[in-house]
Amino acid sequence: MNSWFTVSPLNYIGGKARILDQLLPVFPEHISTFVDMFCGGCNVGINTQADNYIYNDGNRELIGLLKMFLRLNINTILKRMDEIVEHYGFSKTKDHNFAYYGGNPMKGVSRYNKEPFLQLRQDYNNSPRNNQHYIMLYALVVFGFNNQMRFNDRGEYNLPVGKRDFNDVIRRKLQVFVDKLKAQHPVIQNNDFRRFDIYQLDGDSLVYLDPPYLISTATYNEGGGWTERDEQDLLDFMDRLNEQGIHFVLSNMLEHKGRKNHLLINWIEQRNMQVVGINMDYSNSNYQVEGKNSGTVEVLVKNY
Ligand SMILES: C[S@@+](CC[C@H](N)C(=O)[O-])C[C@H]1O[C@@H](n2cnc3c(N)ncnc32)[C@H](O)[C@@H]1O
Repeated sequence: MNSWFTVSPLNYIGGKARILDQLLPVFPEHISTFVDMFCGGCNVGINTQADNYIYNDGNRELIGLLKMFLRLNINTILKRMDEIVEHYGFSKTKDHNFAYYGGNPMKGVSRYNKEPFLQLRQDYNNSPRNNQHYIMLYALVVFGFNNQMRFNDRGEYNLPVGKRDFNDVIRRKLQVFVDKLKAQHPVIQNNDFRRFDIYQLDGDSLVYLDPPYLISTATYNEGGGWTERDEQDLLDFMDRLNEQGIHFVLSNMLEHKGRKNHLLINWIEQRNMQVVGINMDYSNSNYQVEGKNSGTVEVLVKNY
């Protein structure tokens, strides 16, 4: 990834940070309203130039967290994070080295932070949805496994402790992201995509769609996965956008590990949609595993 992109403090499985250099040039030059329909970590919207921004996601807790980023001053967020670190007794590798906490740069500080993390997780899962609840969620992301977010059927955060803590790199990442998000004055909303009101958009709007992929699995929510019904509803939704003359770009996979997304492939062929291939040479990143990407066809589908 190019270093001039803003990095999301939320590490999303399927996050689009790694393909921004291929995705952004596909977008129209002028965008009136940019809709990041399945926004996740907001990697795309935060790096897109537009007059107005709408971030939407079906995950209520994620949207609550993003709204908290907008509501609270960055210094307040940092202060409350530091209070959580003190209160629960998390490590502070910005002040001491890993060895001080019985860890090392490879294994990090997971052992030291395990108990504080479990306590924080329990408190978060039992707390009312206010600013502090969402600060706690962000702290779970910081101290949790791979800086990710995952919830069970009851909406409880359920990942284990991770290797890192609230170090200077993460603080800086948060600060830059929150500043930029605030400057965009976005509308942030928690809707199922089917309920999104497309009549608020005009001919210069762009709807970017990055749904869970039908043929590969990622757990944003352990319970309800993405089904063929969801996929069909999404195709119908894009038909409606098309009829209204609203531009969209869809991220997806046509093939993955020998499976094909026939619903999508047929839909594209019947409508003559434009398909842009994504080059998945991850040789410059940590993702490279020999043969891992063989048989995977990742694409962008657009109607302009
Ligand atoms: C692949 S992730 C998006 C990643 C994002 N583009 C990024 O770069 O960080 C897919 C997102 O779709 C959301 N989602 C799943 N089903 C949804 C639905 N029916 N309506 C709206 N959002 C949904 C999930 O909560 C998840 O955040």
